[in-house]
Amino acid sequence: MKRYENIRIEINDHSAVMTFCRPNVLNALNTPTVTEALDAVREIEQNTSVRVLLVTGAGKAFIAGADIKEMYEKTPESARTYSELGHRLMRAFQDLRQPVIAVVNGYCLGGGLEVALGCDIRIASEQAQFGLPETILGIIPGWGATQRAARLIGPAFAKELIFTGRHITAQRAFEIGLVNRVVPAEALMPVAMEMARVICQQSPAAVAAAKRVVNQGIDMPLTEACQLEIDTFANLFNLPDRAEGMKAFIEKRKPNFS
Ligand code: CAA
Repeated sequence: MKRYENIRIEINDHSAVMTFCRPNVLNALNTPTVTEALDAVREIEQNTSVRVLLVTGAGKAFIAGADIKEMYEKTPESARTYSELGHRLMRAFQDLRQPVIAVVNGYCLGGGLEVALGCDIRIASEQAQFGLPETILGIIPGWGATQRAARLIGPAFAKELIFTGRHITAQRAFEIGLVNRVVPAEALMPVAMEMARVICQQSPAAVAAAKRVVNQGIDMPLTEACQLEIDTFANLFNLPDRAEGMKAFIEKRKPNFS
């Protein structure tokens, strides 16, 4: 992996951990940080040994949003470029072959929540706080939350978060379906790593196919989406993982997916 300044990448076994590392500004995302994260996601896509990506923040925050000091200087034109850059990052997480788990250790606000929404699964510490505070800055979420939050938790809860800008607790985030699990702070990374370990035991080709079908199907009419499932299901019978997985079951052993 390349060396990055504002993020850290660690790879252990089949799991990669991306840590946003600007703790002095609560990991606020400026242009260099978003650009580095985008590069790193592209590198991870090419790394055949990585089967799961975990995303987290250094210090007391996950990510406290886009960098407000950088945004203060922007014009409508440069704001558009900034929005497009953030959208590219969230899309990269969404389209990444490997599943992405947001490991939310603290403040998860604005652009930080948009990163979490770009991930496939969200696990939160009991101390995490979630919010979309953009309207107090005179803007709206610009990296996908108006759309991804509305799709994940429904338009009513998404609008409540956006219109009020209020922070909600991890427990409330769980109740409205914004996060999958809430765990004590000290258990956060162990629980996330354990989930990653279990995912790593599955067929990588099947997991990648499942991610693609869920993500693509959600934007399609049901009949078309079900056809996508049928086609993908059938195509997996061409791949060695399918033969190995079923053979292992019949031979009463664990499968060995390369
Ligand atoms: N951008 C730039 N700097 C930020 C930041 C951000 N989003 N969030 C925090 N910081 C900086 C603070 O300015 C401060 O720096 P200094 O020490 O130089 O003053 C440092 O991080 C620590 O922050 P606080 O002293 O404010 O810490 P706190 O514990 O008192 O408060 C907080 C924490 C409630 C998260 C508060 O920092 C806060 O409200 N931050 C802004 C959150 C926000 O509005 N996020 C949305 C940004 S807009 C967006 O994301 C747009 C988009 O969709 C693309």
